[in-house]
Formats: sequence, structure tokens, C-alpha cells
Amino acid sequence: MAGTAEWKERNIEHRKWWHDKVAYQIYPKSFCDTNGDGIGDLRGIISKLDYLKELGIDIIWISPIYQSPFVDQGYDISDYYQIAPEFGTMEEFDELLAEAEKREMHIVMDLVINHCSDQHEWFQKALADPEGEYADYFYFRKGENGNPPSNYRSYFGGSCWEPVPGSDQYYFHAFAKEQPDLNWENPKMKQELYDMINWWLEKGLAGFRIDAIINIKKDLEFPNLEPDGPDGLAGFHRAVEQTTGVGELLEELKRNTFAKYDAFTVAEVFNMREEELTEFIGEEGHFSTMFDFSAHCLSEGEHGWYDAPDIDFQDWKETVTKSQLKLQKVGFAANIIENHDEPRGVSRFLPEYARNPAGTKMLGTISLLLRGIPFLYQGQEIGMQNCNWGNREEWDDISTKDQYQTALQAGLSEQEALKVCGRLSRDNARTPMQWSGEKNAGFTAGKPWLKVNPNYTRINVEDQQKDADSALHYYQKLIRLRKSEVWKEVFTYGTFLPAYEDQEYIMAFYRYLEGGENGRRVLVAGNFGTETRELPLEYSCKKVLLSNLSGNCAEEKLTLDPCGIMVLECGGKAE
Ligand code: GLC
Ligand code: CA
Repeated sequence: MAGTAEWKERNIEHRKWWHDKVAYQIYPKSFCDTNGDGIGDLRGIISKLDYLKELGIDIIWISPIYQSPFVDQGYDISDYYQIAPEFGTMEEFDELLAEAEKREMHIVMDLVINHCSDQHEWFQKALADPEGEYADYFYFRKGENGNPPSNYRSYFGGSCWEPVPGSDQYYFHAFAKEQPDLNWENPKMKQELYDMINWWLEKGLAGFRIDAIINIKKDLEFPNLEPDGPDGLAGFHRAVEQTTGVGELLEELKRNTFAKYDAFTVAEVFNMREEELTEFIGEEGHFSTMFDFSAHCLSEGEHGWYDAPDIDFQDWKETVTKSQLKLQKVGFAANIIENHDEPRGVSRFLPEYARNPAGTKMLGTISLLLRGIPFLYQGQEIGMQNCNWGNREEWDDISTKDQYQTALQAGLSEQEALKVCGRLSRDNARTPMQWSGEKNAGFTAGKPWLKVNPNYTRINVEDQQKDADSALHYYQKLIRLRKSEVWKEVFTYGTFLPAYEDQEYIMAFYRYLEGGENGRRVLVAGNFGTETRELPLEYSCKKVLLSNLSGNCAEEKLTLDPCGIMVLECGGKAE
């Protein structure tokens, strides 16, 4: 397919309600606690809706709030129809829906249907009768000569197979052993999930963020793979890469649920085949959109976090550019710099000298003005950063603990392991939201469930609300610009075109729409280097729409200070 301009021409009548929206992810446990138990809650979310509205948010994705033993922080669901009492009640959830609606905001829940919790009634029944009906809701298999059925390593470490007590069988889990995978070959199980999804959509939910969904299709032979680590196991993701046929399951899922409600769906998909992009997020795709993790994958280590590289600016720039060019031909990506599984974007994508308010704004501008649906993660708007972890007892995350052991086994000292895992720990994003400079960052009156980042005295919402020059105010302006009547069309449908590609330490791109008097073009250019830079302008500068420093723009050149970014309205082509 040709560029986005044509996409727009041909699809003008196929606009979707969510195309021009800005989304925000809430990690409920760490967002806002109103009853002093140290755990964020639904009341806390309700109390911050005006804050989010003011920021410019339209869609709120809330990480799981279903009943759960919280082995993987709610991504292990024991009852899909109940709100976890830690977070509140169903009445409060209904109130949240109503309050969001009043403000013209949409609520999106997390949908974790690759697996459930081992405490779920289905799994308990399966354990009680490993030959019975409910065992077939999961993957129960006999072992091979005293060994598990195959040599897969789960995402959180150790075998994917766990013995079923009192039987010669094992059950399959791609994540923790407390997260048994659901059997997507079983029509009865699938119907139970569809009913549950529709039940939530009936309530008025706008859609779902769909967890780990690429894993649902299994090769039922579970063939052994070439080991890729000293434990003699092979990462389960390798099996996923080789398995075909997930599309049929996804299509059926969509037809039976989301499509009936015009729901918005954003999928978490890693390692997908490029040739399947259209099938996933094209106009008739399985999902509305899916996260673009290409830049995040740059810090994937071959064996784990301990051998993960730091991100190089040039690699990052090329990766983002390539991904934009590819995705815009197909549909809408969902753009993030961080989420609850990733370290903070400021600490990861910015060089050390740029981890300051100007750098924070620069990174935010790039992320929010790319083509696609921008997702902010809580605290991103104030520039929250990774935490300094003093010792491993400070961590909660199951995956961080596993990676720490992996690092030790690879021969790192405790000090080194603490450092390399601290850099990528999922807990970096999960430290409580920093609302103020008061005790516990104003997150709770009690004892927070996870360490508060001590930098809250410097980085917090209240201070930034008072400071017109803060990251928070800048994010508000940025979102307003993106959604303004005049520019919305360009930032939503406009083509992405890289600019100044061979200029070192410059990340720049155009967004434009062709078409007579409605044609418009914007240049976004940021300086990630340490020296002031001058760029000759290819188009005259009609107006500075946004800038984070007092950079300036003369007729034919643009001057950018270090960490400076500008968004310019382009006039005619320079001579
Ligand atoms: C997804 C979630 C992550 C969770 C995993 C298992 O990757 O984002 O937090 O641990 O799925 O559900
Ligand atoms: Ca609470």
C-alpha cells in the first residue's frame, strides 16, 4: 500500500472513534491509595480523573483489577467476574465507569486470557480430577521417561511444565507455575471467555488491552527445541515463533466479542511475523492496534537482563524510524516509551546528561507526535525515573527475582547482579506515583506496598502543577497541540517522513498531509547531543508550534540547544 496520504483518501469514511485519542496506563496498585492500606485503589483512580482530563487523556487502560492472589501482580486472575477487594468493589468500578463517561473518557481493562491463576476454580477442579472435564481447560500431558513433556523454559524461569500432584501428568505454564495456560483448542473454555468478555463490554467498557496474546496458540506436539542456556532448556518464545495458526483463534475471538461492540483493542505482541502485520492491525485486523516494542527490544540480552546492552541513540533512531515507516502502511501502532513491564523511558532512552526536564520533554514530544496512538504510562508526564535499588529485598517483581538468580548463575557478583537487574527491573515502573513532596510522595497515608522512589522530593505532581515550565505543563501543551482542531488531522492521519537522517544526534521527522489548501506539514526536530546544532531548513518556518527551550528558528535555519526540541509549522519549500 502507498503512503498514509492515500490511506486517508481511501479510508476517510473508515475512521474509527479511537484514531485521534490519547491513552494513559494506570498501574492501579501504585497509582493512588485512599484508605491507607498502602495499595492504590479504585477510589484513588476516581479521585484523579480530573487530573487526567486536564492532562488531555481520552482512554484509560487499567492494569488488572480482577480478583487475584497477586503472584504476578494481578496478571494471575482467580475470578474474572470479581474486582479484587484490595482495589475496591464492583459498585466502585461502576462508579468509575460513570464518572469517566461524564468526562467523555473511556475505560479499557486488561484482558489476561492466555492463562489464569492456579487459584481459579477451573484449575482447582482440574487438579481435583486430572482426567476430568476441567483438565481439558488446560494443557495436561504425561511426561516422557520421568521428564517433563518438553524442554521449554518459561518466561519467568524454570520449566514450563509443573507436575500435577498425585498423578503422572504435568500442566503447562508459559509464565509462572501459578499461571497455568488455558487450552484454546477447547470450544467450551473459549465460550466461557467470550461470555466473560461480553459481560464486561455490556457494562460499558470501551475495550481491552490484551495480554500476552500471541502465546495462546500451541503446537500440541510440544516438540523439544535446541537448548539455548546452561539449564538445557529452550525459551518458550522460540516455540511461539515457530507455531502458526494463531490468526484463526484471534479472528474467532474478535467476531464473538469485540466486533459486536466496536470495542477498542490494543494487543501486547512480541516477536510477530512482519508479513502478518496487516492481518493483525490492518483495517480488518484482529485488533485495533498493538504496541510497538521495537525500541524496547533493543535492550534484550541474549541470555537475560545481565547481558542486555544499553541503548545506543543511533540504533534507537533507526529502529523507531523503520518501525514507523513499516507500520503506517498498515494501520495504527500504539506508541509507548514505558509501561509496567519496562524501566522508565527517561532512564533508558535518554543519555545520562539528558535525564533532566528538557530531555524528558524532548523524549515525550517524539513519542507523542509519532504516527499512532500515544499511550502514556503513569508518572511519565512528570518525568519519573528508575529507582536506585539498595538491595534485592526491595524488589517485589517475580521476573526481577528470576533474572537476579540467572545473573548470579552466570557468574556475576551480588553487587553486579543488583546493578544489572536494577536497570531493567519491572519494579522501576511500579514504584508509587509521585503526587507530592509529602511523606510517601502523597501516594498513601500508610505504608506503601513497594518502595517509593526517594527522588519524589524533586519530581512530583504538586510541584509541577505550580511550575509553568514543568514537564507536566509541557505534556499538557503537547497533548493539546496534538488534539487541536487545526493539527489533529495531521498528527492523526499525516504521513511520517524521517528528516535529517544523517545528522548525528538529531532525531527529526515530518508529519504531513497533502492536498491543496488542506495540506499541512510539521517538522519535529530534537537534539540528543551535547552541542548546539544548526539545521538548514528544507521548508520555511511559518510558526513555532511548540518548543521546550528557547531555541530559535530563523527563515532558513533552525538552532537547537542540547536537549532542545521544536515543532514547526512548515511553509513553502526553501529555495
Ligand atoms: C504481560 C504483562 C506482564 C505479565 C505477563 C503475564 O507481559 O504485561 O506484566 O507478567 O503478561 O501475564
Ligand atoms: Ca487502598
